[in-house]
Amino acid sequence: MTLYVFYSIFFVLLPGDLANAIRNRTNLVFGLYHSMFEWFHPLFLEDKQNGFKTRLFPDMKTLPELKEIVETYKPSVVFSDGDWDAPDTYWNSTGFLAWLYNESPVKDTVVVNDRWGTGMECHHGGYYTCGDRCNPGHLLTHKWENCFTACHMIFKIDKHSWGFLRTSNVDDYLTIQEILGQVIITVSTGGNVLINVGPTSYGKIAPIYEERLRQMGAWLKVNGEGIYSSIPWKYQNDTTNPHIWYTSSKDNQTVYASLLVWPNNTTEILLGAPVSSSNTTVTLLGSNVGPLNWRSASESGGIIIDVSNIEAYSLASDWAWIFKLQNITPKQINK
Ligand SMILES: *[C@@H]1O[C@H](CO)[C@@H](O)[C@H](O)[C@H]1NC(C)=O
Ligand SMILES: *[C@@H]1O[C@H](CO)[C@@H](O)[C@H](O)[C@H]1NC(C)=O
Ligand SMILES: *[C@@H]1O[C@H](CO)[C@@H](O)[C@H](O)[C@H]1NC(C)=O
Ligand SMILES: *[C@@H]1O[C@H](CO)[C@@H](O)[C@H](O)[C@H]1NC(C)=O
Ligand SMILES: *[C@@H]1O[C@H](CO)[C@@H](O)[C@H](O)[C@H]1NC(C)=O
Ligand SMILES: *[C@@H]1O[C@H](CO)[C@@H](O)[C@H](O)[C@H]1NC(C)=O
Ligand SMILES: *[C@@H]1O[C@H](CO)[C@@H](O)[C@H](O)[C@H]1NC(C)=O
Repeated sequence: MTLYVFYSIFFVLLPGDLANAIRNRTNLVFGLYHSMFEWFHPLFLEDKQNGFKTRLFPDMKTLPELKEIVETYKPSVVFSDGDWDAPDTYWNSTGFLAWLYNESPVKDTVVVNDRWGTGMECHHGGYYTCGDRCNPGHLLTHKWENCFTACHMIFKIDKHSWGFLRTSNVDDYLTIQEILGQVIITVSTGGNVLINVGPTSYGKIAPIYEERLRQMGAWLKVNGEGIYSSIPWKYQNDTTNPHIWYTSSKDNQTVYASLLVWPNNTTEILLGAPVSSSNTTVTLLGSNVGPLNWRSASESGGIIIDVSNIEAYSLASDWAWIFKLQNITPKQINK
């Protein structure tokens, strides 16, 4: 997983300042969100009236603007938002993408999503976004992204707001446990996460969002090893413990087991999917107690990790925990 900072010109209009600040002060990669639509633009309304047989709006507004933002800000990601109403031929999406990948200043580095016209979602694109808050819960063979927002929309319990709502209550925000759960499950199943925080109209990231972002940063500082540069393992979740999700290092030497819920009053944690060898080592990221004792659960697989030495107060992070397993193999699927 790569951590991107997206800038949504849907909401605010200062991408140059943000691009400079990110590039000058951080190691983050800069990307841009771009909405194809401007639903009440006179040219768009005229095209719409013509059944999208004329292309005044894309020719005079969208396409020149897309090229301009790519040439000016050189984003590493172009997140296009336009999977409704009009087909990709109206937007000339393939023409733009051909320019982006063959001629643009970011042709060798850029990544795009899949919202380039009606019916494109989940079918084309460098990565799929599918619907908002897409989280299939299982491994997809094409790179995908779970784009979600840290704030529930208060008026509809099943909807979430992409903008800042002055009327939000604390319950309308995802907890850090909920956010990390999304991150862990998404990465285990081959996805990226896009997490939205809506700035206020006076240009501020509200303290509750700031706190969530800082919590996520603190957690990733300790546990990022099992997230960044990881690839999916043979198993995404565990065969016996529903709170465990796996990733693997790229060289296949290490398996990371993320635990979303620490059991009450327990001295042992059973993982069903790994098969141990005499060489197996188990550590807990962020713990200073060193290698943990373990024993194998059965001939066919499973490992029981002794966590009796783990003191909650001695851990460098909270909310979710990653066991680092070396010299293990995946349990064979019974034929
Ligand atoms: C960032 O660096 C660019 C040159 O690379 C410079 O022009 C710009 O003023 C800097 N911006 C900030 C916010 O420091
Ligand atoms: C689509 O874009 C390509 C590349 O910019 C251009 O060559 C082509 O003429 C465009 N097609 C239409 C129908 O505008
Ligand atoms: C993994 O979780 C999914 C639900 O998201 C469940 O259907 C599946 O059985 C789980 N796999 C294992 C191996 O437990
Ligand atoms: C790691 O394992 C995967 C899946 O078995 C395999 O495709 C890949 O080539 C392996 N990578 C290395 C560096 O061994
Ligand atoms: C731990 O115990 C508390 C209090 O009994 C309970 O509310 C909580 O759900 C338990 N957690 C787990 C993971 O069992
Ligand atoms: C925790 O487990 C121990 C050993 O099984 C037991 O004696 C004790 O009563 C348990 N405590 C709670 C709060 O459940
Ligand atoms: C244990 O590790 C050593 C050195 O990496 C290796 O040669 C040996 O094959 C391993 N044994 C097992 C049982 O995996």
